[in-house]
Amino acid sequence: MASICVSIFILMAATLCAGYPAGGPYYSCKSLEPGHGAEPKKIPPPYRLSVSRATVESGGSTSVTLSSIDVPFVGFMCAASKYEDKANNTVGEFTRTDAYANISQLLNCSHSTPYTGITHVSRDPKNTVVFNWSVPDSASSGSVFKIRCTFVQSFNVYWLDSLVNVTVAATVDNKISPNEKSHENTISSENENSSSVQTSTLRNLLACLLTVFYCFL
Ligand SMILES: *[C@@H]1O[C@H](CO)[C@@H](O)[C@H](O)[C@H]1NC(C)=O
Ligand SMILES: *[C@@H]1O[C@H](CO)[C@@H](O)[C@H](O)[C@H]1NC(C)=O
Ligand SMILES: *[C@@H]1O[C@H](CO)[C@@H](O)[C@H](O)[C@H]1NC(C)=O
Ligand SMILES: *[C@@H]1O[C@H](CO)[C@@H](O)[C@H](O)[C@H]1NC(C)=O
Ligand SMILES: *[C@@H]1O[C@H](CO)[C@@H](O)[C@H](O)[C@H]1NC(C)=O
Ligand SMILES: *[C@@H]1O[C@H](CO)[C@@H](O)[C@H](O)[C@H]1NC(C)=O
Repeated sequence: MASICVSIFILMAATLCAGYPAGGPYYSCKSLEPGHGAEPKKIPPPYRLSVSRATVESGGSTSVTLSSIDVPFVGFMCAASKYEDKANNTVGEFTRTDAYANISQLLNCSHSTPYTGITHVSRDPKNTVVFNWSVPDSASSGSVFKIRCTFVQSFNVYWLDSLVNVTVAATVDNKISPNEKSHENTISSENENSSSVQTSTLRNLLACLLTVFYCFL
């Protein structure tokens, strides 16, 4: 009995400790929560989310770039929805670009059509990831979609809700200039300093060990 309990708790602790080293799960596309214990950071992220085209015809695509300002990120997860309230199903379709195909994977998010989410494949540090998102064919002119992303810097350090709007072009005839300016919304910020990052990693390790020990007692 005790050994079963220990195994279960070690498994649980391992899961809690690991987060999602091989990418976020398809069932988290709406919340984009990494499932870690810690609270998301409230200060602006040291990461940028930008799109090459902020206005796209229905069925058209825009290139999406995730980039670091100073510290690399280890994990990311993005999804798009028509409203940003997290209640709506994810929509559109992500496609990987050749240069980043080996570090990104598409997700078939719950309650949606295929490929409405995209995430990392490993915890390797990353400074840039580029992929595409296409607007649903059925999207009506003038509607606004939100591409939302989570950035994970380390187990306990992550940011939710980086967001960029993509507006569906008003008329089919009104073609978009390919040189339309890139739109960025995320601002550079002071980063957490490494001593506090280390402290939170230690705290987390301790929490995992305690979980296992409670089981023994
Ligand atoms: C990504 O989108 C851009 C901009 O719409 C387009 O030029 C490019 O061909 C797309 N690439 C892929 C791999 O879909
Ligand atoms: C979006 O979510 C809201 C709140 O749950 C719901 O009322 C609305 O019908 C949803 N819209 C779409 C297009 O799914
Ligand atoms: C992914 O592919 C690029 C070249 O397209 C290469 O430079 C990079 O090292 C590869 N990364 C991994 C983790 O395999
Ligand atoms: C996602 O959906 C596509 C199309 O239905 C399917 O081919 C693919 O195997 C699915 N991928 C996963 C990981 O379920
Ligand atoms: C996105 O659009 C909404 C209105 O639809 C607006 O309130 C919000 O400020 C915009 N966000 C960004 C980052 O442009
Ligand atoms: C790093 O964090 C420590 C403790 O929170 C703080 O005392 C120190 O001023 C910080 N250093 C920088 C450069 O922000």
